[in-house]
Amino acid sequence: MLRNVSELPLEGKTVFLRADFNVPLDGGVITEAHRIDSALPTIRFLLEKAAGLVIASHLGRPGGSSDSRWSLAPVRHHLERSLSLGVQLAPDCIGPEVRRLVKGLEPGKVVLLENLRFHPGEEANDPAFARSLADLADVYVSEAFGAAHRAHASTEGMVGHFRQKGAGFLFREEVEYLSRVLSAPERPVAAILGGAKVSDKIGILKNLVPRMDVVMVGGAMAYTFLKARGVAVGRSLLERDSLGLAGDIMNEAERSGVPLVLPVDHVVAGDTDAGAHDVTPDASIPEDRMGLDIGPKTAALFADKLNGAAMALWNGPLGLFEREPFHHGTVSVARALAASGATTVIAGGDTVAAVRLAGAADAMTHLSTGGGAALEFLEGKTLPGVRALMV
Ligand code: 3PG
Repeated sequence: MLRNVSELPLEGKTVFLRADFNVPLDGGVITEAHRIDSALPTIRFLLEKAAGLVIASHLGRPGGSSDSRWSLAPVRHHLERSLSLGVQLAPDCIGPEVRRLVKGLEPGKVVLLENLRFHPGEEANDPAFARSLADLADVYVSEAFGAAHRAHASTEGMVGHFRQKGAGFLFREEVEYLSRVLSAPERPVAAILGGAKVSDKIGILKNLVPRMDVVMVGGAMAYTFLKARGVAVGRSLLERDSLGLAGDIMNEAERSGVPLVLPVDHVVAGDTDAGAHDVTPDASIPEDRMGLDIGPKTAALFADKLNGAAMALWNGPLGLFEREPFHHGTVSVARALAASGATTVIAGGDTVAAVRLAGAADAMTHLSTGGGAALEFLEGKTLPGVRALMV
């Protein structure tokens, strides 16, 4: 059972909150703070209830040694502004100075530990490092769904030291929506899967296809599926090694009676640098062209399939959406999802970015903060950071 933070005894306790503040930075400036902002309700709740709050996160991949480029200082500033509260940034995440700061914590105050990955023990899930972290607090709360696929000291190793442990509001919501898509979806349920590589999506395709009522495939991986059906794909990105797998998945869909819908037209160009581009009249792509987006007929077809869906999951952009003019397909499907009235679950960093680009973020039911973690969850894996929290 996964306990909710609101079910934990918090009064008079020091709480260790493992967050996932692994946000994109540009010259020390946070360019997208969704992950931090999504954790604020849990942080505010803990500030009201607990005696002291210790927050920890990793940021980037500094490789086990201290590196000021990956300091949590920008996160601290963001938290201070969002909470209208002074947040103390500890010089490290373990050691005597950290223990002193945590001991002196007053109720309603926060200590933010410095980047967990400045120590090799974090990623190695070193027991001594995990113990040092655990010794800082009485209760463990995870709001780090985005890192729950990592069996690291702060997501897994230290958790065993706590009798009182549970999930933050966001973590709980992530697990609930993703589980619901897999195990108890509102029907009819549709999945839209995109992205570049079939090989990255094999696990999710295998797990999802038999559970859905319809599956739509776009993005570069659709060319491998089309090729496996004998359709010409010109110079489009193609994974020859995955042709057999694509065929197997289509056979499995047929056996399960689940329509697997592939693009019926494409936006094509000579190369990715836009220039002259046009739309193919049907699914086949001329020899000297490459597919870079789904075409308007496909976008309309996908929108039609979404019309009437009670639940929809979307993972993976449907074209080279970050480059105009190849964003139209992705944007129009985002808008169709927003208008569908379905319970919508959006998983994957690029897909969430695409939904924002389309101005459709507020219309979605759940925007997952877990990129890799959400994918592994949808593949049917039990994530170490979820398993560790179970009581
Ligand atoms: C993420 O951004 O997907 C998580 O924070 C995990 O980061 P990692 O891939 O560096 O482990």
